[in-house]
Amino acid sequence: MILKKILFAFDGSKGSWKALEWSVGLAKMVDAEIVAVTVVKPPEFSPSISEIDEFFEDAEKSFAPEVEKLRGYGERNGIGIETVFLRGHPAESIVKHAYEKKFDLIVMGTRGLGGFKQMIIGSVAQKVTSYSKVPVTIIRE
Ligand SMILES: Nc1ncnc2c1ncn2[C@@H]1O[C@H](COP(=O)(O)OP(=O)(O)O)[C@@H](O)[C@H]1O
Ligand SMILES: [Mg+2]
Repeated sequence: MILKKILFAFDGSKGSWKALEWSVGLAKMVDAEIVAVTVVKPPEFSPSISEIDEFFEDAEKSFAPEVEKLRGYGERNGIGIETVFLRGHPAESIVKHAYEKKFDLIVMGTRGLGGFKQMIIGSVAQKVTSYSKVPVTIIRE
């Protein structure tokens, strides 16, 4: 079995930070690399093409401090974490990216930024585990 490339799904939530801690521990243990993937959803209204670009750029800019924090966490723990933004539907983008880029494992939190407290597992986590061909590890809060 190969475990060299870990896709860590990062939405900045408490749940994803918990999953990051676990990912870093695992990566160090097996000497794997971590790529943190953050998916930005397209706007729900119908803007023009140029407005769409601007929307994504703004979203990525406002999320940049979270990404910096994540890199800092990696550095303090002796591991360089590559960070990537994808644009699209979160679960679909994560599943596709993991498969196409030949990741060995996806790690994510049980819960994210949205969701209902009644849900045991968030909708993105649920869809990724349902559709991914790449193994998935869900870390409970
Ligand atoms: N847009 C996203 N980009 C990257 N990872 C995400 C995104 N949304 C959710 N995740 C991952 O999925 C986990 C579960 O979140 P989610 O299923 O969205 O729950 P909720 O419904 O509570 O928001 C998060 O901890 C994170 O690891
Ligand atoms: Mg969510």
